Amino acid sequence: MTRDERYMLRCFDLAVLGAGRTSPNPMVGAVLVYEDRIIGEGFHARYGASHAEVNAVTSVPASLRHLIPKSTLYVSLEPCCITGKTGPCTNLILEQGIPRVVVSCLDLSPGVAGRGIAILQSAGVEVTLGVLEKEGKHLSRFRNHFVTRQAPYVILKYAVTPSGQFAPTGNLQSWITGPLSRRFTHRLRSETDAILIGARTAAIDNPQLDNRYYFGASPLRIVLDRHLALPDNLHLFDGASPTLVVNELKSEKDTARKVEYLHIDFGEGFLPRLLGELHRRKISTLLVEGGARLIRSFYDAGLWQEAYIYTGSVDFPAGIAAPQCPGECVETFVIGGDTLRLYRPLSSE
Ligand SMILES: NC(=O)c1ccc[n+]([C@@H]2O[C@H](COP(=O)([O-])OP(=O)(O)OC[C@H]3O[C@@H](n4cnc5c(N)ncnc54)[C@H](OP(=O)(O)O)[C@@H]3O)[C@@H](O)[C@H]2O)c1
Repeated sequence: MTRDERYMLRCFDLAVLGAGRTSPNPMVGAVLVYEDRIIGEGFHARYGASHAEVNAVTSVPASLRHLIPKSTLYVSLEPCCITGKTGPCTNLILEQGIPRVVVSCLDLSPGVAGRGIAILQSAGVEVTLGVLEKEGKHLSRFRNHFVTRQAPYVILKYAVTPSGQFAPTGNLQSWITGPLSRRFTHRLRSETDAILIGARTAAIDNPQLDNRYYFGASPLRIVLDRHLALPDNLHLFDGASPTLVVNELKSEKDTARKVEYLHIDFGEGFLPRLLGELHRRKISTLLVEGGARLIRSFYDAGLWQEAYIYTGSVDFPAGIAAPQCPGECVETFVIGGDTLRLYRPLSSE
């Protein structure tokens, strides 16, 4: 491993400390290095707060600040050159006289996408781009997908039994996986902006759809209820966290119950329309938790980026078949008595 790669790994470690809090901004980490010694480091801690580069520079103790113009700045994502919630990081780098910047991958946001690098280079800063680029792109995948596709990054999650069943027949709710898998799911929930389920899953399972078993916040709950037929006494309507009810009858807010009704045409092109609406609401990651029909519709439309599929250890006496994932398995984990496989679409990097 090269020296640049070692410091870039530190940037990645710092970046993920912002997981679940920066959306729709990316997770970013930065370190300032003088003669093989870290003199400052920082990460983007939450949406609207200062960027990683700013935090790295301000973290340098007063006694070492004179070293900044002789240091290298490592940053996991291209420094921004636009004014958003905060000023451009390229200005900060030039003001501080930092002579070398090492970047893992480009920020594909409109107005940046290589311009941040070009501004630095034309001001005489030495820029090295592409250090641990694959890993950097992975870290920034939510943001870069969100800004280039104008849609949230979609993660599907569901469980199957050893023989491929999805649920018992007869509208019964039944657990397939164990408590450790549940905790991992809650971690996924803590890192995503919203969870989507279909109407039958809401009616049969009555899920709380919150994050109870991991640190961090609970996502927005979204349910498809085309004809507003779901009963009011479901957990989704308990006011514990906000719920968006996607339907074909009305757009309305019920502030007291933290429920918003969103009218969308369920006809041809429904899923892209829904994802476009979620993009407008700055939802950059969407976790889809079933049921089978909803998962299949994402597969059929090719509108998914990752699928986490658990396999439990027990079959039902009779059950409905699980959707067939059209992707490739890229990682397998053992979680307690369950197996968890991560799939990606065949065409993705
Ligand atoms: N194994 C697991 O991980 C897991 C996870 C969740 C649920 N489940 C089980 O799965 C079963 C429910 O699955 P399901 O397939 O019957 O139902 P579902 O997908 O939860 O809900 C189906 C309903 O949601 C609406 N819907 C879903 N996808 C849609 C789309 N693309 N466009 C428009 N509307 C859409 C439709 O409502 P309208 O008919 O009103 O239009 C449809 O009838 C339950 O038994 C539940 O326990 C298992």
